[in-house]
Amino acid sequence: MRLTLYLIVLFFTILFLSNVASGQNGLTSLEELGKAIYFDKIADPDRMACADCHHPRAGFTGPIPGVNNKGSVYRGAVPQRFGNRKPPSAAYATDSPVFYYDTDEELFIGGNFWDGRATGWSLGAPAAEQALGPFLNPVEQNNASKLAVLEQIASSKYAYLWEIVWGLPISLDPADVDTEYDRIGLAINAFEGSSEVNQYSSKYDAYLAGQAALTSQEAWGLELFEGKAQCSACHPSEAGPLGEPPLFTDFTFDNLGIPKNPLNPYYDMDEVFLDDGTPINPLGDSWIDPGLGGFLATLPASNFEQWEIDKTTAVNDNYGKHKVPTLRNVDKRPDVDFIKAYGHNGFFKSLEAIVHFYNTRDVEIWPAPEVSDNVNTEELGDLGLTAEEETAIVAFMKTLSDGYDPTADKQSVTMEMTLDASDFRLAQNYPNPFNPQTTITFDLPAPSEVTLKIYNVLGEEVATLLSNSLPSGPHSIVWVASNYTSGVYLYKLETPEFVQTRKMMLMK
Ligand code: HEC
Ligand code: HEC
Repeated sequence: MRLTLYLIVLFFTILFLSNVASGQNGLTSLEELGKAIYFDKIADPDRMACADCHHPRAGFTGPIPGVNNKGSVYRGAVPQRFGNRKPPSAAYATDSPVFYYDTDEELFIGGNFWDGRATGWSLGAPAAEQALGPFLNPVEQNNASKLAVLEQIASSKYAYLWEIVWGLPISLDPADVDTEYDRIGLAINAFEGSSEVNQYSSKYDAYLAGQAALTSQEAWGLELFEGKAQCSACHPSEAGPLGEPPLFTDFTFDNLGIPKNPLNPYYDMDEVFLDDGTPINPLGDSWIDPGLGGFLATLPASNFEQWEIDKTTAVNDNYGKHKVPTLRNVDKRPDVDFIKAYGHNGFFKSLEAIVHFYNTRDVEIWPAPEVSDNVNTEELGDLGLTAEEETAIVAFMKTLSDGYDPTADKQSVTMEMTLDASDFRLAQNYPNPFNPQTTITFDLPAPSEVTLKIYNVLGEEVATLLSNSLPSGPHSIVWVASNYTSGVYLYKLETPEFVQTRKMMLMK
């Protein structure tokens, strides 16, 4: 038995490795160019790349846990200078539609940035326009001019790609600078839209494709996400009519009533100055993030005439609203202890915290909202979720991280199978064989976080019976397997101190 399992796992491992070796999805030259620019430290004076604020290891958002744990705003190339928002994911941003006003729904939709201000109106792609901002932004990469950016690319090792893509080397002729600079945005947009960034390789994608099973806790979380908790009203979780994978955002804007993040370094930016001597944030502590309303206020009257709406009303109605972010990779982190920040100002430091906020904003004591106008009280604030339901929703969101490896569980199961399962702490289930239910008993020497999961013989997780902290002493739990087929199953008990797996047999 053990040998067979081992061979099965070996087979899957080899299959997996050979996929990698044969080269995954190759990038086009345009995507390759965009990638080189994205990771290049094009900045003045310090070295700073897009990836320094949007790193793949953190799901294309901020890669420094110490920063995420506080203000969650990343410093610019000039070290004293800070902007005012948390970097959102640069992945799955390319699918945002060009910013528009939906007259039927009476809603603004699309664009890039938390406030939608990279509209896409000039290049036809919000993410391409977005990409042109940071290089010249004095609180980000702070380059002196478009020409200065082009010169750094022209002298880079990857400059040859420019010629491959556009037929000619970069032109530094002043007459060409605007067109050449726009091409940087198009290249980055192509990379951000590539299969290397928008991977669609999460466990949830595998589940939608019928290639993975959600655990019972994850499936419960999904049910709540789409039902009782109403998350999918703004973060759609279903595939599109043509099977397009869901993006977990409808690209609209909302004010959730998120409190101020008092650690936002922008509040101190009244004492840090731009080259022309003006303070970065003249308002200091009294600054309030205006969100979409702030961007609308900068648009000329002609836009509002075209939309046939009153500008002042539109500005007021959208004050404090931020774009619905994708939830893809929302839990992507290099290790479990790595802290990520959530919301436009990074107020929340864990998924548990933000879900608890959605659930209890209006029934527990929370700090006042940053903007008290336009707070959505219809879809959140008092969801009536139990603690277990909140945990299940978090468990579901953890299935949205790219790079899911369906073979990983199989490997870990075999390794444990080779250990001697004589430890008394996890008892043999009874009855065994069973139909359709059985009891699993274990003994905890100390209070502990515990998970108890069921796997089939291929090592695929088929159910989570427990994911809780439990007191010390004996515990037992019943597994009702009416929906499962006959065969051998493994049950695995895991605590931070030990892991143990045993076999059982369902006979129908
Ligand atoms: C100093 C940190 C920093 C650097 C460097 C940086 N960004 Fe950002 N990025 C941010 C912040 C903060 C926001 C949100 C700003 C806002 O909404 O006003 C953002 C927003 C974005 C978005 C919008 C995502 C969405 O869904 O709306 C994309 C895409 C993005 N950045 C890509 C890039 C690219 C490409 C570069 C390099 C050219 C880059 N960023 C450089 C911090 C940074
Ligand atoms: C009414 C629309 C709406 C609903 C319903 C909604 N969200 Fe959101 N969600 C948003 C908006 C808008 C933001 C960004 C708000 C901000 O930063 O000010 C957001 C942010 C988030 C974030 C932070 C992501 C990041 O990258 O910072 C998470 C996580 C999240 N939502 C999960 C959920 C879950 C779970 C539910 C259901 C319990 C839910 N949302 C329901 C609109 C919604």
